[in-house]
Amino acid sequence: MDAIIQFDNVSKWYPSYHSVTGGIKSVLFDFPEFLRSLRRRHLAIENVSFSVGRGEFFGVFGRNGAGKSTTLGLIAGVLVPSSGRVTVRGRVTPLLQLGAGFHPDLTGRANILLNGMLLGMTRRQVRAAEDEIIAFADIAEFIDEPIRTYSSGMLSRLGFAVAAHSDPEILLMDEILAVGDVGFKVKCHQRIMEMRQNGVTVVLVSHNPAELVQYCDRVILVDQHRIARIGDPAEVLREHLTPKEPSGVCAQ
Ligand SMILES: Nc1ncnc2c1ncn2[C@@H]1O[C@H](COP(=O)(O)OP(=O)(O)OP(=O)(O)O)[C@@H](O)[C@H]1O
Ligand SMILES: [Mg+2]
Repeated sequence: MDAIIQFDNVSKWYPSYHSVTGGIKSVLFDFPEFLRSLRRRHLAIENVSFSVGRGEFFGVFGRNGAGKSTTLGLIAGVLVPSSGRVTVRGRVTPLLQLGAGFHPDLTGRANILLNGMLLGMTRRQVRAAEDEIIAFADIAEFIDEPIRTYSSGMLSRLGFAVAAHSDPEILLMDEILAVGDVGFKVKCHQRIMEMRQNGVTVVLVSHNPAELVQYCDRVILVDQHRIARIGDPAEVLREHLTPKEPSGVCAQ
């Protein structure tokens, strides 16, 4: 397999902010505890190894706090591994957070230009694609309003529309489809299928097992900051595909 993304024994931990905010009192009155707290850290992923092939659709699934967004942040290069090595052999287009790469006080139109250029498009390319982006996002009515007035779904539409028109090579999507309405999901589906045909590599984080089975060639299940399973989506997500009734919630 021609690996475009490779993780070799990657761990990532964050410092514990509690120790930093303890203040001068904690340094003066309990110095040993202060030293211990400095060493305390939040583990996000531990000893993770996998690779993603060129043109592969790769899914990431797992509980809240399991380490999925951290994994995407490491691929995007916005995070640095604490140990191990991350190798990425291509241009990354990240859709990591709603509104990331957008400026809240600028209009939708100005943000298309800003975001498009951040994603490596020239001003001319953005201008040429602008009408298509606005039509795809279907927010023409609001395009000259500042984006702080946008709903989550509208932000997601704009983010996905710009990324999809920026000729991505490796597209990272962190729960970006979750807030779109049914109409937008249909559009995204078509666009994602086109990308698949054009050989785009996609890493998709989703809490929707059916979506992962529909799109992905392989999926990793992240549990307790480690890879619990990797492989065929239907196999990996088997017990998550038949949702059980929440017990006791509406018991009469
Ligand atoms: N900036 C940070 N500082 C400290 N701890 C962090 C930071 N970012 C993430 N963590 C911790 O790292 C772990 C993994 O977080 P991450 O955001 O990768 O989870 P996730 O799988 O994306 O969760 P979710 O499904 O809720 O989006 C969590 O325990 C979280 O508390
Ligand atoms: Mg996350």
